[in-house]
Amino acid sequence: VFRNKLTFFAAAKISSSFPAPEFPEIAFAGRSNVGKSSLLNALTRQWGVVRTSDKPGLTQTINFFTLGSKLHLVDLPGYGFAYAKEEVKEEWEALVKEYVSTRVGLKRVCLLVDTKWGMKPRDHEIIDLMERSQTKYQIVLTKTDLVFPIDVARRAMQIEESLKAKKSAVQPVMMISSKTGAGIRSLRTALANIVRF
Ligand code: GTP
Ligand code: MG
Repeated sequence: VFRNKLTFFAAAKISSSFPAPEFPEIAFAGRSNVGKSSLLNALTRQWGVVRTSDKPGLTQTINFFTLGSKLHLVDLPGYGFAYAKEEVKEEWEALVKEYVSTRVGLKRVCLLVDTKWGMKPRDHEIIDLMERSQTKYQIVLTKTDLVFPIDVARRAMQIEESLKAKKSAVQPVMMISSKTGAGIRSLRTALANIVRF
């Protein structure tokens, strides 16, 4: 399915403007600047459809992309240290929370975590929410190129340990670098298996 053409489909600032859930969806969540938009590019090998930036807080709406009119890939705005007003950040966060806990057709949330920094309180908040709404999610460690391999492995083990009791967490933790391409194929295969195209 990831060979299909990626096209922008819709952007939503409020849940009433979410498109009708006609396709299965895979969403990408995580703190600001963790590499969500870059991962979408790397997975689809299509650069330029999803915008990325050095400045945290680029993605300010929930952006829906279609992959060959079969699947929606959903780029969520990051939570955390965006250069934005506090009220605006709270609005995005509420929107993301509403999306992950109520969206029909949502098959999987990839929760991206920066390998160097690990999980933060807001990641745990989202996890608790997904546990309550029984939304299937998996942790994807990003930017592994910036950390020694031993530390990547250590981080993955630490997170797997902390997820043991969680019911909606899909194991194992995957590790990727959108920059070098490490781990991208495995993640692509894992995600394609969810929708089985
Ligand atoms: P928001 O939209 O602000 O929430 O950010 P985002 O999570 O979409 O992050 P984005 O993909 O825009 O990437 C943020 C920055 O991290 C950019 O400067 C990217 O080039 C960089 N980046 C993303 N992935 C990697 C990676 O695997 N390795 C390295 N070294 N840098 C990366
Ligand atoms: Mg982004």
